[in-house]
Amino acid sequence: MADIPQTLAASIRAIHDYPKPGIIFRDITTLLGDAAAFRSAVDELVRPYADLAIDQIAGIEARGFILGGAMAHQLSAGFVPIRKKGKLPHTTVRVAYSLEYGVDEMEMHVDAVKPGDKVILCDDLIATGGTAEGAVKLLRQLGAEVVSACFVIDLPELGGRKKLEALGVEVRTLVS
Ligand code: PRP
Ligand code: HPA
Repeated sequence: MADIPQTLAASIRAIHDYPKPGIIFRDITTLLGDAAAFRSAVDELVRPYADLAIDQIAGIEARGFILGGAMAHQLSAGFVPIRKKGKLPHTTVRVAYSLEYGVDEMEMHVDAVKPGDKVILCDDLIATGGTAEGAVKLLRQLGAEVVSACFVIDLPELGGRKKLEALGVEVRTLVS
């Protein structure tokens, strides 16, 4: 059988000096545009959660929406968007967070999850973990159980996995 992480890694493009000099940006649009790679990534992301009766997939804007939507469909779960501030129309909870190249704020609708909901957090990539940490805070503030967080790509030298694990969140990634 083909080595799935290797095939996925080959479908991801590296862009040097984007969005700032010195940063190598891992671009998953090439993975998403490759039908076999996209299916394989989603299959691998959902596999550990198939029997866990997950209520919601929470996807982080923007690429977490694409992967998380496909995961939610495959797991027969709902989908919850975690968005940059000012984009959601109903009442929100908001958190400030820091990431590899800046600071920002993100929001969720207050009624997007119910206390006790079993939620999987999803994004394309974990770098410093600041974004995912903010998302975990929002989900927990609303009483959700963050069962796990999953990402296609881990940049381990930036420490994001450790940051989430220190919060008591299981982390799953496909490519390092
Ligand atoms: C990227 C990526 C993650 C985050 C990871 O999104 O999709 O959400 O950065 O970085 P961190 O682990 O250091 O927090 P970005 O902030 O570039 O936003 P975008 O999806 O709107 O382009
Ligand atoms: N790709 C996508 N998002 C990111 C990256 C990257 O390489 N680094 C930090 N956030």
